[in-house]
Amino acid sequence: MKDKAFWRFYSLVYDTLLRLIPYQKLLQRVIRAIGPPDQTLKILDAGCGTGNLEMFINQQAINAAIIGVDSTPAMLAIARKKNRASRKNCRFQPADLNQTLPFEDSAFDVVVAINVLYALAQPLESLKEFWRILRPEGRLIIVTPKNKANLWPILGEHIRLVQADLKSFWGRLVAWLKMGWLVANLLIVGLLNLIILKRGRDKKYHFYELPELEELVTTAGFELEETDSDYGHQDWFLVSRKANGRVDKTA
Ligand SMILES: C[S@@+](CC[C@H](N)C(=O)[O-])C[C@H]1O[C@@H](n2cnc3c(N)ncnc32)[C@H](O)[C@@H]1O
Repeated sequence: MKDKAFWRFYSLVYDTLLRLIPYQKLLQRVIRAIGPPDQTLKILDAGCGTGNLEMFINQQAINAAIIGVDSTPAMLAIARKKNRASRKNCRFQPADLNQTLPFEDSAFDVVVAINVLYALAQPLESLKEFWRILRPEGRLIIVTPKNKANLWPILGEHIRLVQADLKSFWGRLVAWLKMGWLVANLLIVGLLNLIILKRGRDKKYHFYELPELEELVTTAGFELEETDSDYGHQDWFLVSRKANGRVDKTA
């Protein structure tokens, strides 16, 4: 399946992930990493998919102007529909992260890229482009799958979190019935993730060990502020800052 068709098909089932508590927690963590809610920030969500980060930001009293870009029109259509009520501070537009982005230098305070870096043709070049459009001292938040990441530990964490909240027999029974329904829905997402993993094995997609990812981000000119794992420990979670004056190690 070609890349475009793959992401178009994924858009039909992508929001099944919204039912997973680890995915919800990941988005909340990204929002905390963006900074205090009262700041007026300009944020780029690179590879925004179906606009879930925007939806979470818009549900909270966060004072931000956010632009979501993505190369899949079907993803953008869902994102716009979900965030219709917040047109003033949130917009979506098509853009290919493998190309020069249609933004001025230093246009953003924060760039976020959640689970998209791995799918880009030349992640280092895209990171340099994020560097260009960030203001000095601006922050980059990268969330990207670890080498050998998979969906099932994320589901495992979801089950643990649901169970920890339930004490009664009936509560647990209802939770298990819902879980069965969720697993059935996740099967298609699981199959699509097998394609993603195969593309990783074929070196078409990029899954990193932490030192490799850190090297990539610092080579693009960023200073690391926080490195951790999240999303059922399947993703790296990196926060970095655009250092004042680029250190271009590739030049
Ligand atoms: C796994 S989804 C992540 C969506 C969103 N960031 C989230 O965390 O829910 C990956 C997204 O990256 C987009 N994408 C893939 N390659 C891209 C490219 N070259 N330029 C822009 N977006 C791209 C896909 O269309 C898809 O919406």
